[in-house]
Amino acid sequence: MIEIKKVSKSYVKNKRIIENLNLEIKNGEIFGFLGPNGAGKTTTIKMITGILDINDGDILIDGVSIKENPVEAKKNFGYVPDNPDLFLKLKGIEYLNFLADIYHISKDDRKERIEQYSKLFGVYDNLNDRIQSYSHGMRQKITVIGAMLHNPQNWILDEPMTGLDPKSAHDLKILMKQHANKGNLVFFSTHVLEVAEKLCDRIGIINKGKLIFVGTYEEMKKKFKEDLSLEELFLEITE
Ligand SMILES: Nc1ncnc2c1ncn2[C@@H]1O[C@H](COP(=O)(O)OP(=O)(O)OP(=O)(O)O)[C@@H](O)[C@H]1O
Ligand SMILES: [Mg+2]
Repeated sequence: MIEIKKVSKSYVKNKRIIENLNLEIKNGEIFGFLGPNGAGKTTTIKMITGILDINDGDILIDGVSIKENPVEAKKNFGYVPDNPDLFLKLKGIEYLNFLADIYHISKDDRKERIEQYSKLFGVYDNLNDRIQSYSHGMRQKITVIGAMLHNPQNWILDEPMTGLDPKSAHDLKILMKQHANKGNLVFFSTHVLEVAEKLCDRIGIINKGKLIFVGTYEEMKKKFKEDLSLEELFLEITE
């Protein structure tokens, strides 16, 4: 479970980027985080993951505060950043082993998981190449595999489908569903409204740093207009 409690954030003085954000994401659900460019999705995700400091409020991951106990909180999630251009000098396999070392994953478990996921995403044959030689989509796949290696209960994914080919995006969606069906949590941001509509148990919409809707697509239609598509609703309420 992720609990975001009265969180505010400014990058520069007196300019709130996130304003008193309250949000609870429950185990067993896929939660889609939507909002226009610059709304504050990545900022929120970076606060959840401890990359950015929280100015006011707190965020708990399975009851552990990312502010007070960051190392413990970080054991409980896997994170895919919005930009996969990381550790470019490492080979794919070196990057994955590096993560496996950090999370104390046994030799057998890491071998099995690296093989399983890299074959699923079609990058098994590239593991001995440097990440700098990978295409955008291949880099994205390596960060997704890295986030899943320690088998975390909570997945936090910032636009995870961006750059993935249709088959890999499809496989990732299936993994997300399976993960949530086992009682785990998936929190992801996306601009693809169709994915949000089909995949998510609940949706949150953020606009200019404020959460303007949380609930199911059905609830959203009831709250705003029954006969509109998610795209039409999204455009109307974020105007
Ligand atoms: N390092 C930074 N310094 C100053 N302002 C920043 C910084 N990073 C982000 N911002 C500002 O914070 C706001 C929210 O940005 P954020 O990246 O969280 O948006 P987003 O919802 O993820 O957008 P996108 O859909 O484009 O990824 C924007 O106004 C952005 O200009
Ligand atoms: Mg972003």
